[in-house]
This record gives sequence, C-alpha cells and structure tokens, in this order.
Amino acid sequence: MTAAPDQTLVLRPRLQRADEALRPTRAEIDLEAIAHNYRVVSEVAGPAKVLAVVKADAYGHGVVPVARRLQQEGARGLCVALAEEGLELREAGIHTDIVVLNGAYGHAHGEVLAAGLTPVVYDIAQVEAFAAAAGGRAFGVHLKVDTGMARLGVPLAELGRFLERFGAIPGARIDGLMTHLACADSDDGFTAEQLQRFTRAQHVVRAHGHRPKVLHAANSAATFRHPSSRYDLVRCGIALFGFPNAPGVEAALRPAMRLRSEVVALRWLEPGAPVGYDGTFRAARRTLLATIPVGYGDGLMRMGSNRGAALLRGRRAPIVGNISMDLTTLDVTDVPGVAVGDEAVLFGSQRGPDGELARIDATEVAEACGTIPYEVLCAISRRVPRFYGPGPASRS
Ligand SMILES: Cc1ncc(COP(=O)(O)O)c(C=O)c1O
Repeated sequence: MTAAPDQTLVLRPRLQRADEALRPTRAEIDLEAIAHNYRVVSEVAGPAKVLAVVKADAYGHGVVPVARRLQQEGARGLCVALAEEGLELREAGIHTDIVVLNGAYGHAHGEVLAAGLTPVVYDIAQVEAFAAAAGGRAFGVHLKVDTGMARLGVPLAELGRFLERFGAIPGARIDGLMTHLACADSDDGFTAEQLQRFTRAQHVVRAHGHRPKVLHAANSAATFRHPSSRYDLVRCGIALFGFPNAPGVEAALRPAMRLRSEVVALRWLEPGAPVGYDGTFRAARRTLLATIPVGYGDGLMRMGSNRGAALLRGRRAPIVGNISMDLTTLDVTDVPGVAVGDEAVLFGSQRGPDGELARIDATEVAEACGTIPYEVLCAISRRVPRFYGPGPASRS
C-alpha cells in the first residue's frame, strides 16, 4: 500500500512507508473507502446533513487522517465523545464544527469554549460551569434528552424543571436538541416510541422559549432504517467505516480497515500434539502450523481462539490454539505452497493466486467472538501502525 503524507506511525514515527515498517503486522486504512461511505450516507440522509462520528480514534482508524479526509469531503461537522478528542482535532488544524457528545468532565469548560467545540449538556451543573467559564459571554450548547436509552440525557419528566433553571443562566443558548436511539437496528416499535418522546421534548423546549437551530437523533442504523429520525443532522459512525447495521446496505459501503500480518514460522505437528497456552487445540491429523506475530496485545480478540480464521494465499486458515499476547497460530495444512513471509489477513480482503478475492470482514470476526464490529475495530491497539491510502481494503 502506498503511503499518504499524514500517516500515523505510533511506534516508529520516522518510518514513512509500509515496506519500511519493522513488524509485518499493520492496519491499512482506506481513506477513499471512508470518503465513499460518507457520500453514500450523505445521499441517503439528504436533505439532512451528516455529522461524522469520529470518537475513539475514529473507531480505531486514526482520528486525524480520517477527520482531515472527511473535512475535505465537506462533512457538516464531527462528533467526538471527549473534550480531549475535540482538542486533539483542533490542534491538528481541523476547523469544522465539532460536537462533544459526552460534554466536559473535570474543569475543561473554558478550554472547550476557547477551542470552539460545541458541548452536549444533560445536567444543569454543566451549563453553570460553562457559563462561569464564559464569563458573561454568550455560548451555545446542544441539549441531550433521554428518550429511552437511559444513559445520558435529561429525562423527559425533568425537562421542564431543567429548562426553568437553564433560563436563569446568563449567556446560555440551546443551539441543538438531540437524543440517542437505543434499538435503531433491532426494534422499530421502541424506536418509534423514542421518536414520539423526542417530539414531546421539542414542544417542551419551544414552550420555554428556546429555538434550537438543529435537531438530531439518528445513528447509522437509524439513518438507513428510519427516515423520520433524520431531522436536520444525522450522527453516523460505523457506516463511515463500512458497516451499515441495516440489511441491504452492505453492498453500498466499503470496509475501510484491513488488518494484516505475515507468517514468521512454520512447523509440522504430529497427530495429538497440543498447540499454545493450555493446549486447547490438538492436531487431529498431521498439521502444518503457521505462526503470525499478532495477538491480543494488538487488539485481536482472544475469544477468536479456535474460532476465527485468517486469509493466506486467498484461502481460509483456522486460528488454532489460544491467541496469545503477541502471537497467533494457524492451521495452514490446506494452503498449498504456504511459506514464511506469506501475508495473513485477519480482516479485510486478499487476492489468491488464481486472482479470486477472499474476504473476512469485521462482522464475521465479531460474530465468532460474540461481539460487535465496533469493538473489533476499536480494539486494534496503538502498537499496530496504521498506514493510509486507497488500498486492498476497498478493492472488490
Ligand atoms: C450519541 C451517539 N451518536 C451517534 C453515534 C454513532 O453511532 P453509529 O456508529 O452506530 O453510527 C454514537 C456511537 O456510539 C453515539 O454514542
């Protein structure tokens, strides 16, 4: 994969190209796939605009290069979870709107306002702290109401009281009103109830004299599945990285991360021989075992031990034995011609010797591990260097 100038290399920042990397394990991030997914989401959401959710290091893809590409693509704004994440983006020169979904903890209120970040508030003490930091100047917030997620947000029953107190805080202005949907990909009835409560919240907010400029509720799944949830803005994360959470959309989106390593050792096992910690796998036949230098220290889910697979020469090789911190073992008996140095793809696509494209995607990994693709992507740790460019992750 060719290198882009804004690549992030955590372990050896002076290295510029994938072929200079010291370890063969790396994540290849396809920024063109992210831009493509952004365009797909924008088209579906329109006339609503897209706030690109890039919290948690852009779901493991590396927040600065991803945010730059999305800003270039014209994203209406970005969402992060933490003030620190927003400040990191400002320091990197990102100038588009940034909404801080979880508000501000600690004493960062002044910094949040000074950096021009838009805080989400759900507690009156937060608004008071922003007002104190603003020192009499006007400031805008997005107000979050809880319509059924029961995590953050002013409960509907307390909204009137909250707004009375809000009205007494000098300078505070509600620019946005938002909620978060709990079951947009799984329960249409519950989603409809949440949206009804959100409508009630809008009436209460207006009755108290506030005129929010924007309303937003939809995540990726809601954007695709619930048109009435789109309002003015949609907050999409996982769809930008290629996972739609809605049936029928898979074909339109392209996974943006490819996790690859290489075979560093090969050995033959006799029938009955155990593999790895606790010997959880025993060879049932004469077995060719390949070792790849990637493990749970890199964020590979240990739950994938004896369940997952990797691609080698376009074929699936099962993960056998327990995944350890730095190393994983594969049964490559059925991979003709396998050799030390061969590429092993943990997720993403790979072309076999016959030219056919094989693929394992993060959803498959997640299913094997009893989790969701979000966790599979976010888990890839900082010791896995990310390389950016258009690449095999999106080729099909
Ligand atoms: C408040 C909020 N909005 C939007 C999103 C984006 O969700 P998704 O990645 O499913 O699009 C998240 C992510 O968890 C979130 O917490």
